[in-house]
Amino acid sequence: MSHRIEKFIDESEVQAIVNQLAKRIYQDFREQSIVLVGVLDGAFAILHDLVKELHNLGMKDLVIDFVGIDNYGSGTESSKKAKITKDLKHDIRDKIVIIVEDIVDTGYSLSILQSLLLARLPKMLTTLTFLSKDARREIEVPVDYIGKHIPNEFVIGYGLDYDGKYRELPYIGILQFD
Ligand code: IMP
Ligand code: MG
Repeated sequence: MSHRIEKFIDESEVQAIVNQLAKRIYQDFREQSIVLVGVLDGAFAILHDLVKELHNLGMKDLVIDFVGIDNYGSGTESSKKAKITKDLKHDIRDKIVIIVEDIVDTGYSLSILQSLLLARLPKMLTTLTFLSKDARREIEVPVDYIGKHIPNEFVIGYGLDYDGKYRELPYIGILQFD
């Protein structure tokens, strides 16, 4: 299917959103040790910029870990099934854990991930996402820090892909199918 990209959130706005999120995390957790859990693959971009900014703000005690979750959806569709493809390296029992997501859409993959991590008895589990498509939510799932609420469009860039592509873009674009 042929498609084109329409610029939606430019690079400077992306950075401003991430800096705002970092400020809120710093304000809420500055004296504490936290484990940031980036959800692969898409969260690599925000996680990188987020930890850089947290460091600049003076955050001291950070552990960075990743979890891989495979969503069986194809193309631009989400799926209700998801499985862990790469587990955490660290034990999160009694830790303050922040899940870092690129986008929350239907909410299914985040909901599955939250249940899996809660079963490991962290002291606290909270979730940050760069983008949220509120109108698409099919399951109620707590999301504590949201960078930007966006309409129901398929977006790419800043970690987000279409068929494995466009993750490298420093901005968010809307994919338009002709
Ligand atoms: P969920 O529907 O909330 O379970 O989202 C599942 C996953 O689908 C997200 O973590 C993304 O990896 C992917 N996804 C959802 N919406 C978009 C989008 O607009 N662009 C790219 N990936 C998306
Ligand atoms: Mg994802």
